[in-house]
Amino acid sequence: MKEFIEVIKNRRSVRKYSDKKIPEDVIIDIVDCARLAPTARNEQPWEFIIIRDRRNLEKLTAIIGKNAPFLKNASCCIAVFCRETKYYLEDGCAATQNILLSAKSYGLGSCWIAGDKKEYAEKVRKFLNVPLGYKLISLVSLGYPEDTYSPPKRALEDVIHWEKF
Ligand SMILES: Cc1cc2nc3c(=O)[nH]c(=O)nc-3n(C[C@H](O)[C@H](O)[C@H](O)COP(=O)(O)O)c2cc1C
Repeated sequence: MKEFIEVIKNRRSVRKYSDKKIPEDVIIDIVDCARLAPTARNEQPWEFIIIRDRRNLEKLTAIIGKNAPFLKNASCCIAVFCRETKYYLEDGCAATQNILLSAKSYGLGSCWIAGDKKEYAEKVRKFLNVPLGYKLISLVSLGYPEDTYSPPKRALEDVIHWEKF
């Protein structure tokens, strides 16, 4: 369990990846972790699309534009979609976080790329043949890390409040 705390504390967004392929069973296990996330009313509204084909990664990157130019060089991308339930966004974000943490646990780097609220969300949905009524939550780029940039974090004593703000 202490190892898991280290995984959480050491995860950082990684936007540069090596060419090394991610074994398929690792990708499948990461999605398995995602689908076990907490979900309001146990709706489990999520669907996960794995994109590995380089041409598809390039097309996705072109759709997304300046938000994530590094996506085309990732080993793989997991697109998280949710059926539009009341708590679709919370559910999809919980699943996305499970992807980031399980990826870190496997020694992979990842980056959460915005989905919901983005003007490209509809284009991504169509490109990936996702039916109407599903919302893009996130795209997660994955690969073995080459470089990690670690932006500063707010200090624990600045964010912790006991009893009241
Ligand atoms: C909802 C959400 C959307 C994000 N979208 C992007 C994005 O489109 N492109 C990107 O490079 N990083 C994106 N990020 C990653 C953040 O930039 C990153 O988490 C933040 O700078 C903190 O760094 P860390 O992940 O290394 O702790 C996103 C993160 C979240 C939670």
